[in-house]
Amino acid sequence: MKKLLFPLFAVALMSVSPVSADDTPLGKEMEAFNDAYKAMRRVQDNAEGAKLAREAQEALLKSFSLTPEFVEKGGHPDGKEKAMASYRTQIAQALTMMCQIEAAFLADDKAKVDELVQALRDVKKKGHGEFIEE
Ligand code: HEM
Repeated sequence: MKKLLFPLFAVALMSVSPVSADDTPLGKEMEAFNDAYKAMRRVQDNAEGAKLAREAQEALLKSFSLTPEFVEKGGHPDGKEKAMASYRTQIAQALTMMCQIEAAFLADDKAKVDELVQALRDVKKKGHGEFIEE
């Protein structure tokens, strides 16, 4: 009987567990972006840093044409159209900064890279605050 109960319990648990953010197409792009963003903070070689910045740009370009789950579900107080205009503005800001990070790597300007990487944290905080359900 115990042998039967365990799989049943496991299936029941799986069916009630919430879908995590990285299960969505946007969540996957954000994960790819995050991997490159994290790696570029530790990189020693500037050419490698510039390559990681380009990978992060690709993920943001794909994110630009996707819709946050929170907005899709009608959770944003401003409605879908205004929410998406704000979402795309913020993704575009992150993209611009990632292009500037690439240029800073290519100019061997590590101080500028650090400054921009730091500033991106605020962009993330704002974006996640507005577009991810608490
Ligand atoms: C440095 C900048 C950023 C990093 C490193 C980052 C990273 C991530 C990661 C790792 C996830 C998946 C797991 C989680 O929920 O934490 C995620 C999800 C998400 N991010 Fe970001 N993010 C950044 C900026 C932004 C910006 C600017 C926006 C919006 C304009 C945004 C919108 C979202 C949304 C909406 C999700 C949930 C996925 C969904 O709704 O389908 N992120 N982000």
